[in-house]
Amino acid sequence: MTQNLALFTARRIATMEALDRPYGLIENGAIGVENGMIAYVGASDQIPARFATLPRHDFGNRLVTPALIDCHTHLIHGGNRAHEFEMRLKGATYEEVARAGGGILSTVRATRAATVDELVESALPRLDGLIAEGVSMVEIKSGYGLTIDSECTMLRAARRLSSLRPIDIRASYLAAHAVPPEYAGRADAYIDEVCIPGLRVAHAEGLVDAVDGFCEGIAFSTTQMARLFSEAKRLGLPVKLHAEQLSNRGGAKLAASFGALSCEHLEYVDDEGIAAMAAAGCVAVLLPGAFYTLREKQMPPVDGFRQAGVPIAVSTDLNPGSSPLGSLLLAMNMACTLFRMTPEEALAGTTRHAARALGCDDRGRIAAGLKADLAVWNCAEPAELSYRFGVNPLHARIIGGCL
Ligand code: NIG
Ligand code: FE
Repeated sequence: MTQNLALFTARRIATMEALDRPYGLIENGAIGVENGMIAYVGASDQIPARFATLPRHDFGNRLVTPALIDCHTHLIHGGNRAHEFEMRLKGATYEEVARAGGGILSTVRATRAATVDELVESALPRLDGLIAEGVSMVEIKSGYGLTIDSECTMLRAARRLSSLRPIDIRASYLAAHAVPPEYAGRADAYIDEVCIPGLRVAHAEGLVDAVDGFCEGIAFSTTQMARLFSEAKRLGLPVKLHAEQLSNRGGAKLAASFGALSCEHLEYVDDEGIAAMAAAGCVAVLLPGAFYTLREKQMPPVDGFRQAGVPIAVSTDLNPGSSPLGSLLLAMNMACTLFRMTPEEALAGTTRHAARALGCDDRGRIAAGLKADLAVWNCAEPAELSYRFGVNPLHARIIGGCL
């Protein structure tokens, strides 16, 4: 079904590649695809001979960008937490709800009760919502099972989803998300008896692409995370971390010392953490949906990341508690409106930098040699993707060169 050769033309192509011009924009551009990979991108009047004779798919006045990538989601989970939304509206904080046995642990109860089939069935509409917005790759975390078996069940559901839809899925092992009730007050034992052996089991079954954790007062310390990350490294798996979301615990620095692909949230990261991330080439994944939902006041230090040259990605954090946000386009708008990122940064955050946050340098930009995953929009200019909200201007999604 993959075409051997294909040619696409459009009024504007935001390559997100040569950012010395805004969006790496090409006017009246063409993209030649060979065996699912981009072989040519450039002006439509300089098309190489082997593409020039092909029937072209002309997208007219539309805009072409790299397909979007949602690099941080918890889209597989049981149940929902609408009730906690109501509690928070009456004044309870996220941490108070969590300490009262709600929060992540209420989703744990619902997820443990679900089968792989049920998890897949409830996740599909969320995945389809992202696909409908031009998303070609999504990261999905475990972290609502918190036993070896139920973490593996979540990860199997993630693998199953990738066989049901034309989308790349990366699965992250997030057993170190919360201390389950049976280990209350014994977080160290939970790391030793569940997180570490569970990682070996899940990895042996081929279920894990990266290892994640939640480093926070209501979750795990840097020392505990370091023990899990050491095992991840021993198994040859990349790591990433939910760090400095509600307070500064030094998680970013710890993750950077393990060469983390990314750190996420980061509202409370300090200069030392930023410097460590910059030195390690670690991506800052900003999650404006959680900031919005929790009505955070502390802004992530966007300027600090810019000045240190830390790449910034933007993601939905799609989850039933802190970010019930199913739209990556809305996350882009929020990144601009709430975090004062530019529309160009927001698009880079859901394309080239999101790809890097997943360790996938073969996509996320429109350049020769990269995977031909593209999105075609009913937009004249790329800033429209962040500017409008509540509308979906997607015209078509192209995966591996196939419309
Ligand atoms: O990314 N910060 C920790 N984990 C999730 C929240 C998950 C939940 O509330 O269910 C997050 O925001
Ligand atoms: Fe998260």
